[in-house]
Amino acid sequence: MANFNKGLLIITCLSKLSASLTLASKKIAHHLYIHYHPKEPQKYEKFSKALSSIYSCSIEMCGNIDVRVLISTMKTNASLMSRIKNVDLVFVDDQIENSLSDKTLSIIQFESLLDENETRYNNVVLGGTFDRLHVGHKILLSEAALRAKQRLVVGVTDVNMITSKKLPELVLPLEKRIDDVKEFLNDVDNTIKYEVVPIQDPFGPTASDPNLDLIVVSDETLKGGYKVNEIRKEKNFRELEIYSIPLVEIKEVLKEKENKVSSSNQRMDILGTQFKEPQPRPDLPQWPYIIGLIGGIASGKSKMSERFMKMGAGIIDCDKLAHSIYEPGEECYYEIIKEFGEDLIDVNGRIDRKKLGAIVFSDKNKLQQLNQIVWPNLLKKAKNKINELYEKEKRKIVILEAAVLIQAGWEKECHEIWSMIIPPEVAIKRLMERNNLTEVEAKARLASQVDNSVVVSHSNVVFSSLWSYEYSQAQAEKAWSELLKRLNFLSGKI
Ligand SMILES: *[C@@H]1O[C@H](CO)[C@@H](O)[C@H](O)[C@H]1NC(C)=O
Ligand SMILES: *[C@@H]1O[C@H](CO)[C@@H](O)[C@H](O)[C@H]1NC(C)=O
Ligand SMILES: *[C@@H]1O[C@H](CO)[C@@H](O)[C@H](O)[C@H]1NC(C)=O
Repeated sequence: MANFNKGLLIITCLSKLSASLTLASKKIAHHLYIHYHPKEPQKYEKFSKALSSIYSCSIEMCGNIDVRVLISTMKTNASLMSRIKNVDLVFVDDQIENSLSDKTLSIIQFESLLDENETRYNNVVLGGTFDRLHVGHKILLSEAALRAKQRLVVGVTDVNMITSKKLPELVLPLEKRIDDVKEFLNDVDNTIKYEVVPIQDPFGPTASDPNLDLIVVSDETLKGGYKVNEIRKEKNFRELEIYSIPLVEIKEVLKEKENKVSSSNQRMDILGTQFKEPQPRPDLPQWPYIIGLIGGIASGKSKMSERFMKMGAGIIDCDKLAHSIYEPGEECYYEIIKEFGEDLIDVNGRIDRKKLGAIVFSDKNKLQQLNQIVWPNLLKKAKNKINELYEKEKRKIVILEAAVLIQAGWEKECHEIWSMIIPPEVAIKRLMERNNLTEVEAKARLASQVDNSVVVSHSNVVFSSLWSYEYSQAQAEKAWSELLKRLNFLSGKI
């Protein structure tokens, strides 16, 4: 039973690592701190290997708890002593210890576990996006802290530097990423001073701070390290020593993902899960449960709706519904003609949509006027349809697919908002292929809609159709089964 909050695992023997982590994962519910304790002081290399073995192994054995390898405890035994006092349970390898048994007391008789001849750097620097700290980040930050004697400077990429990343809309805000880095570093090593700062270019403080000694990079960013030194040379700053750490590989990954622990993998894992709780909607009846589905043009909304229909949802496509409200006899028909004139009526007595389009798409005010006629009528129709789906077809969950949902203010009509995002350049490509548009035309269509980042900020669950059909299907299934659980359909069926 995992009934201790915080644990400390002292590892003296790496060959027992897997057994030790298995035991700890059974007893500890939230935080597991790890102190690596070789018999004699060791070179950095040995600690690097231990760090990477421990973290890799923890992914497998302790997936549900926050595992942190302590750095300060390798530097001073006072730090280890205070840790022992501040946890609920102590392990030495695969044994549970009374927190201050003779065995533990003997362990803390040391000055430092770092080889005295290894260079300690007064000022260490590193950089990254640090989105949702994962094992790779933890290793990078720890390796830097391990080598730092006084100060560690961390550059965190500002928004201008993340646009080329995969699913950039899901990257956490800069302030949150900075806070996470600070919190982690202060937790694993409180003996050094941290400066965690935003950076707007790949060089950050390395191009302005002469007092730096060592830069820590990953194999992937080694070239960046050389570039930093070129720039420092030009400025007559002293060149930095470069320490490059290998990337951590994880074994089984989907083919859509990168074959390493990465933030973009983590962002992909968010797809199809509820990453933000919905606002309570006390004004809405409990049933039917209404999910607004939003997303830009060519983002794959309709395909997604279809998937949910197959799983049992009622579906309303507001785009299609909108077509019907321009028909003669509809309230909307008369209101539009009253507003925009009888010239709009074609030989068959219908509203000439092309003519209307030409009027409103060149004049923002006119478009607003039209929307003010169309949106309330459309919403009325959609609500009727929702009730029909619930009463007649007994659909307890209804998906309201509506590109205009946010602009029209219909969020309050929905229990949750789900959305589809794809990068703009992909939307343009799809539009050109699907609708036979020129690039200019496709871009113009896209320009009139809200940004993905706005879409995400209104969403409780996000999907992306950027990858294979199967991967989109998997996202849909994940979202649907989580939804049924949330709504207490215990059998997993509605
Ligand atoms: C640290 O180790 C030294 C021996 O190397 C010992 O004298 C001292 O008491 C230890 N400190 C703590 C806090 O246990
Ligand atoms: C550190 O270097 C000194 C002088 O070069 C040497 O005598 C000593 O044995 C070294 N210590 C270790 C732990 O290697
Ligand atoms: C695509 O558009 C071009 C130019 O507008 C036109 O010549 C061509 O016939 C169209 N192709 C299809 C398949 O509609």
